[in-house]
Amino acid sequence: MSASSIDASETSPRSSAVSSSPTLAPPRLIAHRGLSASAPENTLAAVRAAHEAGSAWVELDVQLLADGTPVIWHDASVNRCSNGRGRLAKLCLAEARRLDVGAWFDAAFAGERMATLDEMLALIKTLGMGLNLELKLARGHDPAALAEAVVPKAMAMLPAARLIVSSFSGPSLNAARALEPDPARLRLGRLYDKIPKGWEADAIRLEAFSVHSDWTRLTESRARAIKAAGYRLICYTANDPLTFAPLWQWGVDAAISDDPRRFAGRLPDDV
Ligand code: G3P
Ligand code: MG
Repeated sequence: MSASSIDASETSPRSSAVSSSPTLAPPRLIAHRGLSASAPENTLAAVRAAHEAGSAWVELDVQLLADGTPVIWHDASVNRCSNGRGRLAKLCLAEARRLDVGAWFDAAFAGERMATLDEMLALIKTLGMGLNLELKLARGHDPAALAEAVVPKAMAMLPAARLIVSSFSGPSLNAARALEPDPARLRLGRLYDKIPKGWEADAIRLEAFSVHSDWTRLTESRARAIKAAGYRLICYTANDPLTFAPLWQWGVDAAISDDPRRFAGRLPDDV
């Protein structure tokens, strides 16, 4: 999966909106929530599994516990991915740590504990990986508080070329940009389900590095417009390399996949 580890200096056309951003390429493939096909999502084990499988980058979700601790977690509740029940945002760190977050996936992962952002960043740094960190804003929560708790830590641990902070939450991204106005020092990715008409105004205002879309809702014309404007285009969650194949021709830069191994030998760079 050599093409998944592309992180070399590579130039591409940039619009004036992003001309001061670094021009390092993101990888072709990013492991979604770690290697979530083979390990419990958003855990240290899932990131180790992604690394062992050859992935250079992972996508992970981050949100805040009741005591303000940033943790790596996707859902608003702990019901699906732990042995507990209830809302994540009501737990303090000690309560969250009592949960088993591995056994729901497979008994082999029993005893896995919820990862704090600090722990996860340390692991990613040690492994030399890149990170697409998704700010997951829980309903009713403060977007600035999320960005302030997360972005400085991530920037302190990882170089700019190995970090993309993304979110569906425009206010969270605005808060992130306010913390670091220089787009060369902080790459931001605007996440959408279906990319709306106003995407470019959003991207310019944010000085975004990348636009991220649900691949099943992306159109060729939108993809080509995003690339013509000089942004990176990243799609989630692609698990079938054959149905995804046409999108590479549209200019999509990277796919976020539960199992990047499935794309081995099936990337545009491979043919
Ligand atoms: O960042 C891409 C993707 O992770 C967004 O959706 O729900 O899997 O976090 P979700
Ligand atoms: Mg995500």
